[in-house]
Amino acid sequence: MIFDGRKRENMITAVERIHRGDVVAFPTETVYGLGADAFNEKALQKIFEIKNRPTQDPLILHIADEAQLDSIVKEIPPIGQKLMKKFWPGPLTLIFKKADAVPDLVTAGLHTVAVRMPRNIIATALIKNAGTVIAAPSANKFQGLSPTTAQAVEDQLGDRLDFILDGGPCLIGLESTIVSVVGTPTVLRLGGLSLEDLEEATGEKLQVIENKFTESEALPAPGLMEFHYAPKKPLKLVSADDFTSELKGQSFQGKAVVCFSQEQSEKLKNMGATDIFVLSESGNLDEAARNYFETLRKIDHSDFKEIICIKVPEKFLGRAINDRLSKGQHR
Ligand code: TXA
Ligand code: MG
Repeated sequence: MIFDGRKRENMITAVERIHRGDVVAFPTETVYGLGADAFNEKALQKIFEIKNRPTQDPLILHIADEAQLDSIVKEIPPIGQKLMKKFWPGPLTLIFKKADAVPDLVTAGLHTVAVRMPRNIIATALIKNAGTVIAAPSANKFQGLSPTTAQAVEDQLGDRLDFILDGGPCLIGLESTIVSVVGTPTVLRLGGLSLEDLEEATGEKLQVIENKFTESEALPAPGLMEFHYAPKKPLKLVSADDFTSELKGQSFQGKAVVCFSQEQSEKLKNMGATDIFVLSESGNLDEAARNYFETLRKIDHSDFKEIICIKVPEKFLGRAINDRLSKGQHR
């Protein structure tokens, strides 16, 4: 069930549920999370069951105050301090060496732990009022589309989850960017904080893990599977520069076409496409990011047989959108 996260009584219920070891879906500025008390093993177990997620895939810990780091992190290197200062609260997850108190279920037995401080006020209120660290993956089924509205959580998990705090649509709409600051700083997942902003803050070029691994390969970091963030319908990906020739002669019958801008939409119309979904009329990448998952969800819920997606410009949040587009293809 969906409950208005701005109402005090619903926040109180959410906190009670966290205290008694239940899970609660809640909004963040990136995507909705499926939260539980990070120090309660039974509650953590429920997260994996609800999502159908393998326990080898570790969780992100959510804090509202830097003082909470003392209980979960062993050390904070200078680069970590710098990034926290610049980007927390916000869409950045940092990987640190973990403190002994963090349950193995959170970290999948790794010696590192992922931590983020969300900016969304409902998320922050939940963490503060619960008085604990909240472990939360995105509130979708394993490998499914990430939810950016309460309704999207209800659609995927409503039959297994009875408490969703509604905070309206997510402001950013893509998951956090994950950066490991254990050893050489490395970007493990592109997300709601752009590589350009990160590199400006660190003053150096960052290594970005090329995360296209199959389940059987040894992953340099967990959760970097080639197939992820996928709609139920087949998704065909087309390049941005050459989409008119790639789609020449295509029948658009029964197909939804997702494109970046009004300009592309006009060209598609001239080619005979009728069911066109524009991520940002004005060609703004932040707006496209905000609309991305919800657009795919709506298409997934309608009668289209296939989704054709045109890649967005490979810069700023466009890199993260293209990453999700390429992983969303069924093979
Ligand atoms: O924006 C977000 O990050 C959202 C909101 C709810 O905070 N959360 C999210 O969680 O996207 P999830 O579980 O869907 O994705 C977290 C990713 C997984 O791919 C996981 O493998 C990776 O973070 N991760 C977690 N701990 C890690 C660690 N110690 N080392 C490397 N990767 C880790
Ligand atoms: Mg996820």
